[in-house]
Amino acid sequence: MASYLVGFRIFLLAALASTSLGVAVPHPMITAAPSLVERAPSKVQGRDIVSDIGGLGSYLSSVVGTYPSYIASGIPNFFQGFPTGTAVQSSLGLSDSDLAATPTQVLNIPGYANWTENGWNLRFHGNVFKQPNISESKLDDLANAFLVGTSIQQLPPTEQTQARNLTSEIYVVQQPYVNVTFNIEPATINSDGNGAPTTHGGGSQKVALQGETTIEGDYDQFLQLANVSGPAGYLLPGNGTTNIQRLNVYANGTDTGNSTAYLVPTTGLTIVSDIDDILRVTKIYEPAEGLLNSFAKPFVPWMNMPDIYANWSRSIPDFHFHYLTTTPEQITRNYMDFIFKTYPGGSFDTRPLNFSDVSATLSIRKFLLEKIFQTYPERKFILIADTSNSDVMKDYPAMVSEFPGQVQCIFLRNTSATDSRDKFPYDTSGFKGIEQNKYMFFLVPDDLTNLDILNGQCYNTSIPQNITFSEQGLPFGLSKNGVASRAELGWNLISAACLVVLLTIIL
Ligand SMILES: *[C@@H]1O[C@H](CO)[C@@H](O)[C@H](O)[C@H]1NC(C)=O
Ligand SMILES: *[C@@H]1O[C@H](CO)[C@@H](O)[C@H](O)[C@H]1NC(C)=O
Ligand SMILES: *[C@@H]1O[C@H](CO)[C@@H](O)[C@H](O)[C@H]1NC(C)=O
Ligand SMILES: *[C@@H]1O[C@H](CO)[C@@H](O)[C@H](O)[C@H]1NC(C)=O
Ligand SMILES: *[C@@H]1O[C@H](CO)[C@@H](O)[C@H](O)[C@H]1NC(C)=O
Ligand SMILES: *[C@@H]1O[C@H](CO)[C@@H](O)[C@H](O)[C@H]1NC(C)=O
Ligand SMILES: *[C@@H]1O[C@H](CO)[C@@H](O)[C@H](O)[C@H]1NC(C)=O
Ligand SMILES: *[C@@H]1O[C@H](CO)[C@@H](O)[C@H](O)[C@H]1NC(C)=O
Ligand SMILES: *[C@@H]1O[C@H](CO)[C@@H](O)[C@H](O)[C@H]1NC(C)=O
Ligand SMILES: *[C@@H]1O[C@H](CO)[C@@H](O)[C@H](O)[C@H]1NC(C)=O
Ligand SMILES: *[C@@H]1O[C@H](CO)[C@@H](O)[C@H](O)[C@H]1NC(C)=O
Ligand SMILES: *[C@@H]1O[C@H](CO)[C@@H](O)[C@H](O)[C@H]1NC(C)=O
Repeated sequence: MASYLVGFRIFLLAALASTSLGVAVPHPMITAAPSLVERAPSKVQGRDIVSDIGGLGSYLSSVVGTYPSYIASGIPNFFQGFPTGTAVQSSLGLSDSDLAATPTQVLNIPGYANWTENGWNLRFHGNVFKQPNISESKLDDLANAFLVGTSIQQLPPTEQTQARNLTSEIYVVQQPYVNVTFNIEPATINSDGNGAPTTHGGGSQKVALQGETTIEGDYDQFLQLANVSGPAGYLLPGNGTTNIQRLNVYANGTDTGNSTAYLVPTTGLTIVSDIDDILRVTKIYEPAEGLLNSFAKPFVPWMNMPDIYANWSRSIPDFHFHYLTTTPEQITRNYMDFIFKTYPGGSFDTRPLNFSDVSATLSIRKFLLEKIFQTYPERKFILIADTSNSDVMKDYPAMVSEFPGQVQCIFLRNTSATDSRDKFPYDTSGFKGIEQNKYMFFLVPDDLTNLDILNGQCYNTSIPQNITFSEQGLPFGLSKNGVASRAELGWNLISAACLVVLLTIIL
């Protein structure tokens, strides 16, 4: 409780700091939520071993390989397998005409653009969906399917509101095979903190997506922008400026699809930042608490990370912030709301719906990292996350060899150092051969001060590094193949033990 209050105080201070320090206020608030199709929502605990056997194939391979895949991406299994599409419609008993009368919304995720020989090339990505009007009692039933060991009736009123909010974002009906167009407008930004807004260059234009949304209602494509002039003249070419220019991007036909696009110069520094357990307190490694933190409680920043980011935004010229979380697309809007109130504005990535199945879950972070690295072959990158994501532990160091010269720093919060209840093992073997000055395992945000990341000085010699270049942090001194360590994840111990027995028999 005490640390919760401290966290909240820091949050207030940070919020004040970020307004007075002039962290750019994102122009139109990004909107739009999730989508949806039906698979029964899964529970964290109390899993029925017998009925789970059907799905054991992928679970089995992931357990034998390394960790359960639902944790691999830093996403616990209560955030997997959300219902989608027609399954939502039928589970809510919605008629086609009810649905037709429901307005279409667009999740328009802030994109990034690169400079090409044909001009600015902007990534549009997001989802088209309808959000049915669900009665409160029905919402409560649906929310209770996600909650474990508690029910919505037992939560305080503000948490009830939040849980209903998330549930309604999960129960949306995605709109496949629709055409989407965007209206692009020059952006006006209060970026200097002196109350003098500046309007960026570029004029109005319409851009139509090529083809229709996918079967999941998603879209993700780069499109070339025309060079048109507006009140502040033309956009500058990306090889003729170091400034990040912005544009407002509105989905046509709805006011739910407003976002900001970031036109990022050919050279410069980009930070790719994870969110859970680095920018906010999630405690993914403690499923019961992680569930409530994600589903019912307001998002709380992790310690004074907002100060660190505000300082970087101020002191590193033209620093491009890109937030890359593998949280499901359905709840992206809540993540964006939190980030843009607490951290500097920037482009965003979440897990697209076609990466929902267990096998694709493992590859999503790599896919998104490669996409941004390929878009900016001459930029350098700072990568930041925490040790509780096994995909991060693999994918971040892999970028060093895959994109030579492009990784400037890797920062990993050692979650078990500040949270002794995190018994989640992590694998440091990927760091073998990478020079120490390029990366740091750190304990608290202040460890990130007094670095010169612009010049590649990313290691603070006063922070002890205890790296074995192998699996670390295993509980009870168990070896890598000790499947019983999974029980430590806060799961129902008995179920886990049964599973171990089952696995032993099957193997
Ligand atoms: C900038 O980019 C344009 C378009 O790609 C190219 O024609 C021009 O030569 C480049 N200018 C410089 C200085 O590299
Ligand atoms: C949603 O349904 C409730 C009744 O079930 C109704 O009172 C409310 O006006 C509806 N809201 C919208 C936006 O249609
Ligand atoms: C849920 O909360 C978010 C963030 O506060 C808000 O933007 C969104 O409109 C809410 N969604 C619903 C369905 O109430
Ligand atoms: C989308 O646009 C294409 C080309 O203009 C058109 O052929 C197609 O019918 C449109 N699809 C829908 C669902 O309106
Ligand atoms: C998901 O869709 C994107 C395009 O929207 C595509 O590039 C990607 O390969 C797809 N991934 C999977 C796992 O299907
Ligand atoms: C657009 O065209 C104008 C006028 O030719 C030129 O000054 C400007 O650099 C161009 N900007 C971009 C982004 O191509
Ligand atoms: C934009 O939306 C309006 C209103 O919904 C619609 O009439 C118009 O046809 C749309 N324009 C395009 C290019 O899709
Ligand atoms: C989106 O932008 C339009 C045009 O500026 C504005 O009218 C609308 O209120 C915005 N919607 C949201 C949800 O902020
Ligand atoms: C711009 O980004 C696209 C999409 O990632 C990439 O294919 C292309 O090579 C990039 N262009 C340049 C000049 O970097
Ligand atoms: C992380 O912190 C734990 C607990 O203090 C420590 O045992 C471990 O060696 C640290 N890991 C690294 C990579 O420094
Ligand atoms: C702010 O950032 C600069 C540049 O990275 C760094 O030198 C300085 O130590 C930082 N200060 C704090 C208080 O974080
Ligand atoms: C260093 O890591 C090893 C292996 O994970 C662990 O046994 C040891 O306690 C750690 N030492 C410190 C000082 O944290």
